[in-house]
Amino acid sequence: MEEISPEILGKVKELIKKYEDSGQDAGSYLEGLLHSKYLGYWEYIHLDTLLSLQNPKTDFKDEKIFILYHQITELYFKLIIHELQQILDDETTVEWLGKRIKRANAYLKALVSSFVVMIDGMDREQFLQYRMALLPASGFQSGQFREIELYATNLYNLLSSSYRDKHIQVDNVDEAYENIYWKFGATDAKTGAKTTTLKEFEHKYDASLKSLSQVRKTNNLYSKYKAVEEKGAMTDELKELFREFDHTLNIEWRLAHYKSAVRYLQNKVGVSTDATGGTNWHQYLPPRFQKIIFFPQAWSKQEQEEWGKKWVDEQLRG
Ligand code: HEM
Repeated sequence: MEEISPEILGKVKELIKKYEDSGQDAGSYLEGLLHSKYLGYWEYIHLDTLLSLQNPKTDFKDEKIFILYHQITELYFKLIIHELQQILDDETTVEWLGKRIKRANAYLKALVSSFVVMIDGMDREQFLQYRMALLPASGFQSGQFREIELYATNLYNLLSSSYRDKHIQVDNVDEAYENIYWKFGATDAKTGAKTTTLKEFEHKYDASLKSLSQVRKTNNLYSKYKAVEEKGAMTDELKELFREFDHTLNIEWRLAHYKSAVRYLQNKVGVSTDATGGTNWHQYLPPRFQKIIFFPQAWSKQEQEEWGKKWVDEQLRG
């Protein structure tokens, strides 16, 4: 056997010290190392479990794509939340803040560009059949999507546009929560009544989302934006990163998603098929209706008024 190098000896001494400091025997741990198995990639990332989580409800092959892509999206949502939590809960410098928003933007961009998996990646005839076996479930019920919104901005910016028009300010969290824009999505297109999709979502998430609303009332990404501006530390580059986050989620993702609804739920003459239990998706999903803008201060009055318009024009021009 080769001589033990000074580096290895140094490491062994550090190990002995580590265990001694906590009153433990380093020798026993070293013996444990002799017996322990090598860590496998598949174990480390729980690959078997991950790949066992796709359980279609029908025999249509494309249903698996639908499940997988929703799961992929939820994992990206988790990555975004991971960055937002660090931004809001750790001490940050302006440079560090910029780096984290850049990461979140990269995740959002990946979601926008991959949405083609939904738009063009499934057979419409299959979709229209297997989706009936999934009622009343809908991506609308994504709790993580709502969390991202609550991490990103204050409740006022999430109010339904008609409620916002009538109120300059809403201080009471309970009142604001009841008037959040999504409370008016997944309602019955004919009667305006809440659908089972919405009621079930509320049953599962209202308590936790309401408490998150309280926690994030004054500590959210928009409050960071304003704090940086007030300190006079806002740079053009950082402002652009905030704008990119807003634009990518609230215009590009929403429009890519809307395209998929049009592709599957609207027939060739423009007549909508009933969505999840006959919801109002046509008047609800396009960004110009809800005008959700996380960081209004980062946009001019005109940009806010024409929210999404430029992107739609560009898309129409091809
Ligand atoms: C073929 C693909 C898809 C179609 C046809 C579709 C359709 C719809 C419809 C019609 C709604 C309005 C509510 C309802 O009627 O249920 C909705 C909402 C929503 N969907 Fe999807 N969806 C698709 C894929 C996805 C994916 C992959 C996700 C990722 C998690 C997702 C997340 C959402 C979210 C977050 C909402 C609420 C949006 C908001 O409140 O502004 N959807 N979807």
